[in-house]
Amino acid sequence: MAARIIDGTAHAARVRSKVAEAVTDLRSQGIVPGLAVVLVGDDPASQIYVRSKEKKAVEVGMTSFVHRLPADTAEADLLALVADLNADAAVHGILVQFPLPPQISEATVADAIDPAKDVDGFHEINQGLLALGRPGLVPCTPLGCLMLLRETRGDMSGLDAVVIGRSFNVGLPAAQLLLRENATVTVAHSRTRDLADIVRRADIVVAAVGRAGMVRGDWLKQGATVIDVGITRTDAGLVGDCHFASCAEVAGAITPVPGGVGPMTIACLLANAVTAACGIHGLPASEGLTA
Ligand code: GUN
Repeated sequence: MAARIIDGTAHAARVRSKVAEAVTDLRSQGIVPGLAVVLVGDDPASQIYVRSKEKKAVEVGMTSFVHRLPADTAEADLLALVADLNADAAVHGILVQFPLPPQISEATVADAIDPAKDVDGFHEINQGLLALGRPGLVPCTPLGCLMLLRETRGDMSGLDAVVIGRSFNVGLPAAQLLLRENATVTVAHSRTRDLADIVRRADIVVAAVGRAGMVRGDWLKQGATVIDVGITRTDAGLVGDCHFASCAEVAGAITPVPGGVGPMTIACLLANAVTAACGIHGLPASEGLTA
């Protein structure tokens, strides 16, 4: 195996300690960052994520507010809770856990959150700001990918990057962040022809399609940096979108699954909560916690 394994668990711990320092600083100015997480229904995976978000928020010194609503909650009732959280000065960040039950529109809920408190970066205003290259809150998973890439590649100017997947929460924002780093970005998706040939040109590959082991080692350019966002549960455990054994033979650096991008997502949620608290109070964003 040639590739360096990019340790997302260790990097996430460093991000959380920066967040904890920023929280201490804010508290010394009388500001206690508060993160509100809303869970509708009892999806087992979402329950685990929400508990983890709550625990990690408290560990870095934030106040955590968790709201659990029944699966048959009406959209209007969820929107009323969001309006209350928007108006609550103790809440600086709001996250409504997805997926939502079918009677509730995820887009309507995302756009009801005050953009200044939108720690998911899903609001149309934050997505628009990202597309324009202006400061705003950036979705957590692509922000985590960017931080790992900055650590691994440093200056990405002029590098060829291929993002596989065009989702609003991962692929598209990852592509926009890479463009901002002056990479030459290709966004591949389910209709892309000759995907292997396109991936073979890339210095940086971000795989976010949710198809276990799809990217093979012989698709990669020697020395490429591979960021694997996919997580699929199989009989053999959790696996990414990249076939790890063959990719690690060719890549220069690769994120493992688990232990790569996954731990960065919650760390970046906490980073976004600090960024939101700073923004709301007219303070500059903390170094190293933003895009
Ligand atoms: N469900 C799975 N990942 C996420 C996320 O990053 N944000 C929200 N709101 N829900 C999710």
